[in-house]
Amino acid sequence: MVRAVEKYFQGDNQGKIAWDLGAGVLDDSKYLLDKGFSVVAVDSSEAVRGYAPKVSEYTDFELKIETIQSFVLLTSEKDNKPDLVSAQLSLPFITNDLFVFTMEHILDTLKTEGIFTGQLFGKKDDWNTLYHREDMNFHTKEGVTAFFTKYISRNSETLEILLLNEEEKDAVTVEGEPKHWDIIDFTVKKVKKTNLK
Ligand SMILES: C[S@@+](CC[C@H](N)C(=O)[O-])C[C@H]1O[C@@H](n2cnc3c(N)ncnc32)[C@H](O)[C@@H]1O
Repeated sequence: MVRAVEKYFQGDNQGKIAWDLGAGVLDDSKYLLDKGFSVVAVDSSEAVRGYAPKVSEYTDFELKIETIQSFVLLTSEKDNKPDLVSAQLSLPFITNDLFVFTMEHILDTLKTEGIFTGQLFGKKDDWNTLYHREDMNFHTKEGVTAFFTKYISRNSETLEILLLNEEEKDAVTVEGEPKHWDIIDFTVKKVKKTNLK
């Protein structure tokens, strides 16, 4: 997310809206507020309220305790559209049946020229291969590429894929458990069809 902001939001971000989906401890929200964005942080966990003092000095911050799925469903294309959507390590926790619906809603609501950056989990992740987590979604890099390539909005906007990178590594979870990770990092930009290079 930091790389995407440094590369694509170098100017004054006053008046720009960022969504931090699955905001966790609110460090990304704080970073985005410091960069001048108005931030809407969304997380399903009540515990996130406990981190709100980190950002209490900012007026352009809103915390919504709800699932990403219900947040995007209730946010229509007419509402304040985000210039940036950041979903760091949160989208994999959406159940499979709601995944495409959620992704399409995020993309439909994103502003033209807006950026969507986040991570998905690959099929070789231990939570898929060993634990068969049915409450999560897993993908191949090819499948993610096909999904972004096929997307077209009602206004004929498409996506420019700025980054799509899969990395496998062995590292511990936040609980300290060893795990094989398969992470697909992505950054896409919504563009008018004619602007696609
Ligand atoms: C691994 S943490 C990542 C937190 C933060 N984005 C970061 O990178 O440090 C995942 C976060 O997503 C939240 N989360 C998981 N599934 C969610 C969902 N369906 N809707 C909203 N938040 C969700 C969890 O409560 C948790 O705070």
